[in-house]
Amino acid sequence: MIKKGIILAGGHGSRMSPLTKAVNKQLLPIYDKPLIFYPLSILMLSKIRDILIIVNKGQLNQYKKLLHNGENLGIKIKYIEQPYPKGLPDAFILGEQFIGSDNVALILGDNFFYGQSLSSKLVKSKNINNGAKVFLHKVKRPELYGVAKINNKNKIVGLKEKPKKYYSDYAITGLYYFDNNVVKHAKTLKPSKRNELEITDLLKKYLYKKKLSAEIIGRGGAWLDTGSIEDFYKTSNFVSSIENRQGFKIACLEEISLNNNWINKKNILNAIKFYGKCDYSKYLSSLISK
Ligand code: TTP
Repeated sequence: MIKKGIILAGGHGSRMSPLTKAVNKQLLPIYDKPLIFYPLSILMLSKIRDILIIVNKGQLNQYKKLLHNGENLGIKIKYIEQPYPKGLPDAFILGEQFIGSDNVALILGDNFFYGQSLSSKLVKSKNINNGAKVFLHKVKRPELYGVAKINNKNKIVGLKEKPKKYYSDYAITGLYYFDNNVVKHAKTLKPSKRNELEITDLLKKYLYKKKLSAEIIGRGGAWLDTGSIEDFYKTSNFVSSIENRQGFKIACLEEISLNNNWINKKNILNAIKFYGKCDYSKYLSSLISK
């Protein structure tokens, strides 16, 4: 069972410069909320309440200003600064103390997930005791992603990073569940040619032991990586279309928490006071006036 989660919210943000020169990518808006709300909402929908956010050196205060220690959201948030972007598996080295003897989920701060029955899938697949799990999504241009080949039992039989020749069209998304061995494995990794620890190398440790499984996010679900400016705006448009059509908000953290029975009306009122007069607060007040 997984009770802890890490959000990797640092990074170079080089593709989005100059937007990211003064502000971290995860604090920029995806339509009506900062990007970090979306991956955080995914952990909360997975019923994970113990959360570590890894941020770039010098950016801690901005995140704390927004999310505090999570108390008003019914969760516990800790923060760690990453001295420089050393690669995704660094999350487990920096997070060793936070992880302790538990299993852990990792979500990349710039990944967006949405879809019917996604939450129940996330909760159901948390039962990993020995091994690791990745979430796969079919893509049109697999050459842009890390991809996985699976057998008919959803076990992964091979992994390739940005394959030039067709290998599989299942992209490995930025959400991973790991058993506690991940800390030990991460420590044995060597930096790649681009001088980063690579998540594919970490996943291969599990693959070679036949302990890597897959969960597929089907065509009813959406996975968007918001790393480039173009993708950032496409994701914003996606959120705006859904929210304005349905009247529901995507990634309203207080709503998720209220539905999980982690907070009550008083917390919603605190949140309204904190955010001030805005559409988000109007939405929050509609949640408690029914
Ligand atoms: P990347 O896709 O490597 O992107 P990036 O944010 O560094 O931007 P760019 O490629 O444009 O320079 O990272 C994926 C996510 O993980 C992103 O949200 C940033 C985060 N990250 C860290 O927090 N620490 C790291 O060491 C790395 C490599 C990424």
